Amino acid sequence: MKDIRNRQIVLEKRPSGLPGKETFRIIETDLPEMKAGEILCKNVFISVDPYMRGRMNDAGRPGSSFPLHKVIRGRTVGRVLESGDRQFSEGDYVLGMMGWEEFSIIEAGKVEKIDVGIASPSTYLGALGVTGLTAYFGLLSIAEPKTGDQVVISGAAGAVGTMVGQIARIKGCRVCGIAGTDEKVQMLREELHFDEAINYRKSGNLVDDLKKACPEGVDVYFDNVGGEISDAVMSLLNRYSRISICGQISQYNLDKMSAGPRIQPVILKHLAKMQAFTVSDYKSDYPSARKQLATWLKDGKIKSVEDITEGFENIPEAFIGLFKGENKGKKVVRIG
Ligand SMILES: NC(=O)c1ccc[n+]([C@@H]2O[C@H](COP(=O)([O-])OP(=O)(O)OC[C@H]3O[C@@H](n4cnc5c(N)ncnc54)[C@H](OP(=O)(O)O)[C@@H]3O)[C@@H](O)[C@H]2O)c1
Repeated sequence: MKDIRNRQIVLEKRPSGLPGKETFRIIETDLPEMKAGEILCKNVFISVDPYMRGRMNDAGRPGSSFPLHKVIRGRTVGRVLESGDRQFSEGDYVLGMMGWEEFSIIEAGKVEKIDVGIASPSTYLGALGVTGLTAYFGLLSIAEPKTGDQVVISGAAGAVGTMVGQIARIKGCRVCGIAGTDEKVQMLREELHFDEAINYRKSGNLVDDLKKACPEGVDVYFDNVGGEISDAVMSLLNRYSRISICGQISQYNLDKMSAGPRIQPVILKHLAKMQAFTVSDYKSDYPSARKQLATWLKDGKIKSVEDITEGFENIPEAFIGLFKGENKGKKVVRIG
């Protein structure tokens, strides 16, 4: 395997605002020698995720930023070509933080084998991966939905959003999704059976449109985007409503966070509960949640919505597209 030339995408320049092509550079390197306990894999699917934008900034703390001129690390599914560990064999599919490169040599203990008999490899980056787990814990553990609750989801047609809405429907909730195109709204209504969906880009008055879509007010708000969309939802909260703060993508490319209305009086008036979370806090419960998600998937209760870009060199574009609303469901890049 010594002769393999590896193409890698490195962070060339820290972006200001929306990253551009100049933020990244493709380099070619020789693969280093494999050591005992390591595996060599050919990467097959690369996950691009909004959180990576934050890692491109200089956070000033070691380990929180992607280093400049080094390969961008992120969730990846690869196929084992050579194994220096008895637990893995050639041909196994593995999930790990390999990153934006065609081949990776990684310690065997840092990857997990995935069962491609249950679902296709890319599903382990979406519905059965961190995406599905984020939706599962962010909705069920943080927002504690009850039958009949009105749930509103921002970023509803994205990776996490599509999963949240479907899980909320399983739990007997009424679901309204907010998304950025008519095509996304149609998918939410017709393919994923959301009760209501609103195109925020076309809405002349989002508060009015939300009032029409949720005449009984909002019991649960699952927030993926923040900003003015969230301001609008907050004005419709019911008593004892729960707000799960998953992400704030509308703020990720801003140099200075936008100012909004003061929300404490709203929270107080409605005795609402608002909590942010990180999915990694639930690691010990991943196996049981994955089992449940896999059962729902097998039983046809949830659909895995994936948006696949082809080609290694298109990884940066797929990533930048997340901030332009170009994806429907989980964006992954197939590179092999
Ligand atoms: N807490 C956690 O542990 C955790 C874990 C995973 C992800 N997250 C967060 O969850 C959120 C969703 O992540 P994801 O992986 O599912 O991404 P995603 O929703 O698949 O992709 C991004 C989507 O966000 C929307 N968007 C982009 N810029 C926007 C803006 N300025 N205003 C409104 N909407 C905008 C776009 O859809 P439209 O066309 O609808 O605008 C876009 O398609 C992100 O904020 C992410 O950081 C949190």
